[in-house]
Amino acid sequence: MKISVCGKGGCGKSTLVTLLAKELAAMGKRVLVIDTDESNYGLHKQLGVELPEDFTAYFGGKQKVLGDMMMSNFTHQFFATTWGIDDIPASCSVEKDNIILMSSGKIHEANEGCACPMGTLMTQFIDHLTLGPDEYALIDMEAGIEHFGRGTNNGTDLVLMVVDPSFESLRLTGKIKELSESIDKPIRFVLNKVTPEIRQLMRNQVCDDTAIIAELPADGDLMTAGLIGAELDGGDGALKEAIRQLAVSLEASRDQFKDSFIADLA
Ligand SMILES: Nc1ncnc2c1ncn2[C@@H]1O[C@H](COP(=O)(O)OP(=O)(O)O)[C@@H](O)[C@H]1O
Ligand SMILES: [Mg+2]
Repeated sequence: MKISVCGKGGCGKSTLVTLLAKELAAMGKRVLVIDTDESNYGLHKQLGVELPEDFTAYFGGKQKVLGDMMMSNFTHQFFATTWGIDDIPASCSVEKDNIILMSSGKIHEANEGCACPMGTLMTQFIDHLTLGPDEYALIDMEAGIEHFGRGTNNGTDLVLMVVDPSFESLRLTGKIKELSESIDKPIRFVLNKVTPEIRQLMRNQVCDDTAIIAELPADGDLMTAGLIGAELDGGDGALKEAIRQLAVSLEASRDQFKDSFIADLA
């Protein structure tokens, strides 16, 4: 199952991707984590691995990819066939404990150009990615909704939006639901940084509270780990339990989500 994890900047996308990847791996799943966020450098730290070489480098680098796109009037296909996790070159992935991390690429220098080549490459890659029954792909999207404009969610099975306690985040739930439904993708909300005082207020402000699949508590240790760039383990309290329940419900509904994807293709 290919899951897009999206939401506004700082809502907790990379944190959720990391904790969910670790939980699914502990359940015996093989998890591909796809870092498509060109601006942030934190995900590999949270996973406790080195940042792999840009996937875009494997295709000749950003300028080459852009050239291929322009020469073909933006119709160039970078993938002739479907790809499995084992087809990802070792040079652009790192593996630890059944979690494989790959990264589309980062913005390295001022004036190097926009991130569109990386975005196009990853959109096509996700489209061509084929997973086995015990494999998951978790896609850490860039903040905001540009990835919907690019079509990066088209090849996924489920959109998971992380919602933090802010007006912008809660307002975005309506737009992301609308965008997901317009491409026939199921959408679920993960409330994050929840405290007992604001829990009900958050639920009331989400555009559709029946689509809330998990509530992750605000967690002091997680905040400290995020501050110093430490590897995350989720602790052994309420946060860990919420992640465990999320992983279990995703696994239990995978046929439902996959079916909706197959129905799209039919
Ligand atoms: N449930 C939580 N409790 C406390 N802090 C959190 C929680 N979730 C995320 N954070 C913190 O919020 C910050 C942003 O999280 P991050 O996952 O990097 O967001 P994003 O990837 O959406 O930009 C980090 O410092 C992280 O440690
Ligand atoms: Mg992030």
